[in-house]
Amino acid sequence: MQPILIVGNAVLDIILGVDHHPQEDEEMRAVSRRTGLGGNAANTARVLAGLGHPVSLLAALAPDSDAAELRRLLSEAGVDTRHLITATDGHTPVSYILLHAANGSRTIVHHRELGELAFEDFTALSLHDYGWIHFEGRNVATVARMIGHLRDSRFAGGISVELEKDRPGIDALLTQAVLVLCSRALADARGFSDAASLLRAMQGLAPHADLSCTWGAAGAWALGRDGALHHCPAFVPDKVVDTVGAGDVFNAGMIAALAGGADLPAALSAATALAGRKVGQMGLAGLS
Ligand code: FRU
Repeated sequence: MQPILIVGNAVLDIILGVDHHPQEDEEMRAVSRRTGLGGNAANTARVLAGLGHPVSLLAALAPDSDAAELRRLLSEAGVDTRHLITATDGHTPVSYILLHAANGSRTIVHHRELGELAFEDFTALSLHDYGWIHFEGRNVATVARMIGHLRDSRFAGGISVELEKDRPGIDALLTQAVLVLCSRALADARGFSDAASLLRAMQGLAPHADLSCTWGAAGAWALGRDGALHHCPAFVPDKVVDTVGAGDVFNAGMIAALAGGADLPAALSAATALAGRKVGQMGLAGLS
């Protein structure tokens, strides 16, 4: 299997299980607590490692003890941590997440006080050693330069981009991508009420790409570069217990399948099944 590089965020997740959402100024008890690795890029990387892919993560970390813990958790999950960057100051990004015990919904309050990856952090790597490079769609101006560098240096592998949140200028990340992974939040932000309409609109911006969009309990859609639209119904576990990182798991499933040579409908159903298994279990361990 070709090595995969993932570029984006590693976050400390502090997840509190709750039986209701707090009112403002309420004091309440959580029913459970877990602390661990999070962040879209880190989550996708660890699932890819669990699926047996050699995977490296390029992310910025703070010079603090939480970052040391994230490094340890990534290594334990089989992710290559040699290219993690330690900033000179700042704090490890943290997400305080309320996980609703009744339906597994996750409500996230994120805090970030850390510098971003620099263009040079990326170009310092032996990029041509990778068969696939995946970018979390954030830090837009710098990631656009990174992707431009891959184009200029005739990178021969696959490039994928996750568009979870709409951000100014983010469409510039799509021109070289062979896979664009969209979220329902992106559709909402752009005024589309269904996945297929979003994907058709995005296709003009990503001329070489297959595109996908997840839509919760309705499943996921993919639009091939050949114009064919595919839908896969959601895989529904007996009980949805934890949706934290389900989108990141779906993305790992798509990348693993396509990097491994699967066609788009097969990749869509493998990724949907993997994300379905994820929401039926706590955390991301054992999703191979
Ligand atoms: C889930 C997740 C969490 C993280 C948050 C960042 O998709 O990556 O692990 O803390 O989103 O916004």
